[in-house]
Amino acid sequence: MCGIFGYIGQNTNIELGLNALKRLEYRGYDSAGAAWFNDEKKEIFYIKKTGRIKSLEEEINKSVFPKIGNPFIFHTRWASHGGITDANAHPHYDCHKNIFLVHNGIVENYRVLKQRLSEEGHKFYSDTDTEIIAHLIEKFFKGNLEEAVMSALKLIEGTYALVVISQKDPNKIVAARKSSPLLIGVGEKENILASDASAVIGRTKKVVYLNDDEVAVLTPNDFNIFNLDNIKKEKVIDEIDWDLEEAQKGGYKHFMLKEIMEEPEAIQNAILGRLIEDDGNVKLGGLDSVESRLRNIEKLFLIGCGTASFASQVGEYMIEEYAGIPCEFDIGSELRYRKPILDKKTAAIFVSQSGETADTLATLKEFKNKGLLTLGITNVVGSSQARETDAGVYTRSGPEIAVASTKAFIGQLTTLILFTVYLGRQREMSLVMGKRIVSELVKLPDLANQILKTDSEIRRLAEKYKKYHNFFFIGRKYNYPIALEGALKLKEISYLHAEGTAGGELKHGPLALIDENVPTIAICPSDSVYEKMISNIQEIKARKGLVLAIATEGNEEIKKIVDDVIYIPKTLEMLTPILTTIPLHLFAYHIADLLGRDIDKPKNLAKSVTIE
Ligand code: G6P
Repeated sequence: MCGIFGYIGQNTNIELGLNALKRLEYRGYDSAGAAWFNDEKKEIFYIKKTGRIKSLEEEINKSVFPKIGNPFIFHTRWASHGGITDANAHPHYDCHKNIFLVHNGIVENYRVLKQRLSEEGHKFYSDTDTEIIAHLIEKFFKGNLEEAVMSALKLIEGTYALVVISQKDPNKIVAARKSSPLLIGVGEKENILASDASAVIGRTKKVVYLNDDEVAVLTPNDFNIFNLDNIKKEKVIDEIDWDLEEAQKGGYKHFMLKEIMEEPEAIQNAILGRLIEDDGNVKLGGLDSVESRLRNIEKLFLIGCGTASFASQVGEYMIEEYAGIPCEFDIGSELRYRKPILDKKTAAIFVSQSGETADTLATLKEFKNKGLLTLGITNVVGSSQARETDAGVYTRSGPEIAVASTKAFIGQLTTLILFTVYLGRQREMSLVMGKRIVSELVKLPDLANQILKTDSEIRRLAEKYKKYHNFFFIGRKYNYPIALEGALKLKEISYLHAEGTAGGELKHGPLALIDENVPTIAICPSDSVYEKMISNIQEIKARKGLVLAIATEGNEEIKKIVDDVIYIPKTLEMLTPILTTIPLHLFAYHIADLLGRDIDKPKNLAKSVTIE
């Protein structure tokens, strides 16, 4: 989740690095740093600072150092080993300040290595695992930086996206990757390294994605990629289609609000060109290569973390009900430590916006090692998950900048509906049912737009509810995971306590907390569990609890029972989670905004959790 930017080329103004780093800010960080080689002085200068990139910029401007340099490396850190201090910020360097590097990931065996290096006389100045890498490279350095990096990496257990420069081999940048994203931006007389495409767009759209155990050597006019044994590898240059414009706020106060407003578009993009209405079926080109294997699967795992885990859970219910495949949902950080019963007829769908979530990826690798069919539902094209799964479908939700996932979640739900139809039509799903789902899907973007039009009403409700400190969100069946999503969204951006629970679980504990100070958001569209939800709402009302219901248009009865209602248009039960989510996202957003929270970058959280 840290950000990396490295540059070598005709530009020598290091401000370029600061600007690129700012485009990585959304990833969440607690400190920032830079190092640059000044050719005139033949020296690498560096500055590291806790806090925002602005503070780093001020430090650089205040300093007496020349602001000219090439190559240069920039970094934003999200602390994992060692506290948030200037010393622990990156870049890190060796004993003689010859080698400087930035690193995303974790050196798992750093204690052993540190002990060994200390005995050999190396002096450490930080508490980080990263610093070990600089000293290891120093140990192996004999004039050629990439050779030293390769030797060092052979001793490291763990994960890394690593970018290194040296003042004794200064006309290159060396980079390496293992389980942490890193790409090369290929420009005109310049080459760039970044942990994320948003740092290179604006300068180039040509990128090369590094794979695990690859080492890249960049000069201004060239780049070469090797394995750890220094054998050269061929690489393909990809073209990215996101421009900088797309990644900007588009006039909204926050990225999050912009992204919620893009939810109808996220549905549209996910279904575009994929529906075959006459056949009641879908076309998912990304699954062509595994079509016959999918016909034979007898069990399906759905795996994700955070918001993506709730999409996976909805997917479990949908695929089970409509495709008739036994499904099991779990979160990445649990499944990887379990011993699930797997056989060759089991497949797994990994759901992730970034495609870089460490726990999801670790489970993916485990399933792959066991020879199972792995599929991805991913937003970021070319991400680790997209590349490592056997096949998959992109959600096409576009760049999501706000830390809290919104439109990407809608894209995941929509893509899971497509998966359901695909798998169902391979099996028992009737033509009539396929057609019904597909024709309802076509209407969904418009229905979603109708909900967005109630934004000012939701803001008014947010005004009323913002004074409470504890909330319950309840739902059943398809809307149980949405209750979890509604609660997570509220707590992560407003810092108010919110708990999602299944309606049926209320009387097994949560009811003890209900009184006039604890409002409940009850998701109760007119579906197969509506009556049960009404019973739950009555239980709350009997204890003087305040209830805000999400109900289906035309349901006048509910107004007599609850305190407030947000209506959603009618659709198929299986599709309601998409519509019920939208008002919950807006509700969380407006409460957080009214409370003046740092909505796009909530404290302690990061967009892409690339450590376990
Ligand atoms: C973080 C983000 C969440 C996201 C989760 C999973 O916690 O803050 O918004 O849902 O990671 O991320 P993924 O990229 O795998 O969907």
